[in-house]
Amino acid sequence: MTAALYDVIARRRDVRAEFTGAAVADDVLLRVLDAAHRAPSVGMTQPWDFVVVRDPALRRTFRDHVTSEREVFAASLPEERRATFDRIKVEGICESSLGIVVTHSQARGGTHVLGRHAIADAGLYSTILAIQNLWLAATAEGLGVGWVSFYREEFLQSLLGIPADVRPVAWLCLGTVSHLETVPDLERHGWRSRRPLAEAIHHDTWRNHA
Ligand SMILES: Cc1cc2nc3c(=O)[nH]c(=O)nc-3n(C[C@H](O)[C@H](O)[C@H](O)COP(=O)(O)O)c2cc1C
Repeated sequence: MTAALYDVIARRRDVRAEFTGAAVADDVLLRVLDAAHRAPSVGMTQPWDFVVVRDPALRRTFRDHVTSEREVFAASLPEERRATFDRIKVEGICESSLGIVVTHSQARGGTHVLGRHAIADAGLYSTILAIQNLWLAATAEGLGVGWVSFYREEFLQSLLGIPADVRPVAWLCLGTVSHLETVPDLERHGWRSRRPLAEAIHHDTWRNHA
């Protein structure tokens, strides 16, 4: 059991190019969403919702928006970073089996949320944990997930009829895959590498890595 969990954590990958587009069975999708729905949440608010997007027309419209936002980012890059970025695929919206838009409602739980009085973002953290549960469960099911954040929140709210006070936190491409890469795409394409764990661990005070 323990080894299986660590194995899933190690195999989890952000997927863009490896989607096959085959259907995901309804019971598998429900298990993955149930795993997401079991996430911890501040004050038990469960501030997430999941919009399952299968409609090809909606997906194409969103893909076109993401393509234009990719251009906005590309235009901000210095020349040599741009050349590297040009080689990187940032979404598999139409190639994946379906999209899951994970939303966050800060209003859920009312005004007296236990544990959120000092840190408003604790609400958002909860929704992010649901996403991580989903991502790991999908990996355990042999599926791939790709997180897309190249979009304007208002655009996605309007496209899917999401209320103005509910934030679309992520468009997750979910689907069957040919395989999962062992090295993250951004590392394989020379954009950024993983930091050594020792650099991230501090003992007692920030500066002490010993
Ligand atoms: C908040 C968040 C937003 C992300 N947005 C995108 C995105 O828009 N496009 C993309 O291709 N990958 C996106 N990713 C995936 C990261 O690039 C990826 O997690 C990172 O490079 C590490 O690779 P790995 O997940 O395969 O280990 C996002 C990941 C997170 C956590």
